[in-house]
Amino acid sequence: MNQPIGELAPPTRLMLTPGPSSMDPRVYRAMATPLVGHLDPWFRGLMDEVQILLRQVFRTENRITFPISASGSGGIEASVMNPLEEGDQALICVNGMFSDRMAVIAERSPAKVTKIEAPYGKAVDPDDVRRAGKGKKIKIVGLAHGETSSGVMHNLDGFRKVADELGALLVVDAVATLAGVPLNIERQRIDICFSGTQKAISAPPGMSPITVNARVEEVLRTRKTKVQSWYFDLTTAMNYWGKERLYHHTPPISLIYALREAMRIVLEEGLEARWERHRQNQLALIAGIEAMGLELLVKNPADRLPTVTAVMIPGGIEDTKFRNQLLDEFNIEIAGGIGALKGKIWRIGLMGYSSQKAHVLLLLAAAEKILLEQGYRVPAGAGVAAAIRAYTQAETATAVSR
Ligand SMILES: Cc1ncc(COP(=O)(O)O)c(C=O)c1O
Repeated sequence: MNQPIGELAPPTRLMLTPGPSSMDPRVYRAMATPLVGHLDPWFRGLMDEVQILLRQVFRTENRITFPISASGSGGIEASVMNPLEEGDQALICVNGMFSDRMAVIAERSPAKVTKIEAPYGKAVDPDDVRRAGKGKKIKIVGLAHGETSSGVMHNLDGFRKVADELGALLVVDAVATLAGVPLNIERQRIDICFSGTQKAISAPPGMSPITVNARVEEVLRTRKTKVQSWYFDLTTAMNYWGKERLYHHTPPISLIYALREAMRIVLEEGLEARWERHRQNQLALIAGIEAMGLELLVKNPADRLPTVTAVMIPGGIEDTKFRNQLLDEFNIEIAGGIGALKGKIWRIGLMGYSSQKAHVLLLLAAAEKILLEQGYRVPAGAGVAAAIRAYTQAETATAVSR
């Protein structure tokens, strides 16, 4: 009972999971700066800065753009609960656990929810959404830009087109894509978009940046009933994040410091350069994985999510034994599959600070050693060599295009 508890000393892991990702030391330093009150005039100024940075990362001028004090799931809840009320209909595209969560949450609203499904590992077809919505009055079409549970990315343009035809709002989960994959709220005309801080932004978990456009503001103004959730009601939350700065709840001040620094890092690198870095590192990882004789879950390269790669676990290798050795011997964490994919895939995240050439090469070398020791034959050095070739090709292509 009275056992003394020692000082906190977490191990230093390399997090190559689908979130959280590892963080830049600058973000840790920002988090360790002094706490101020959430209504302190200095903090009010900082809130403006955070919103300015967030608008740049989302590429939008939307007035309502701020970090919700909740993890990505809170972003889902805010995004579906705010537009939906009695009599509304929602079409939610489901191709994995997180897009299914959007449907599950929407089902708690008074709206009628229809799932448009695709098998895990595949993208939903916008034509299926069109067919399901034909002749109906649809309020929202929702989908995950990047489905982290299976490593699939959707091309948003087809869904925007269908949502336009149906007169619906487009709701996009960008938890696994914002700051890692091309995304432009204004140009792609996304009505509601939310993300998570612990992925390609590389800040700690616990906040969900959200942005909604003027069309959504109008929907909120003309609601007949109150938003069912008090905490996630965007109109009241905006009394705090908007000009009034009225108390709504006490936000996670130190996390907001961290988010501010993480977004400064994102914008110093430049979004285009960051998207390209994520793309190149995934291509090198895939080259290495395939050279080792392993297969990917997502067969169509156009459907692959650059931030999360789903690898089929080879026959004879036990999921947790492999991942435990990777953690114990190399301090590297990757994730297993979830739901129907448990024990069948590994999910490797290359997000934000974690998406680095050195990490890709280290992971491939470590994987080769462990696979060999656990009885899977891998051609010696093939994974690392293929990844290096992929980097060299990319560097040559860049030099030629200059
Ligand atoms: C695509 C996607 N949406 C939503 C979530 C939920 O986010 P959180 O776990 O931060 O609540 C996740 C988490 O991994 C995700 O990957």
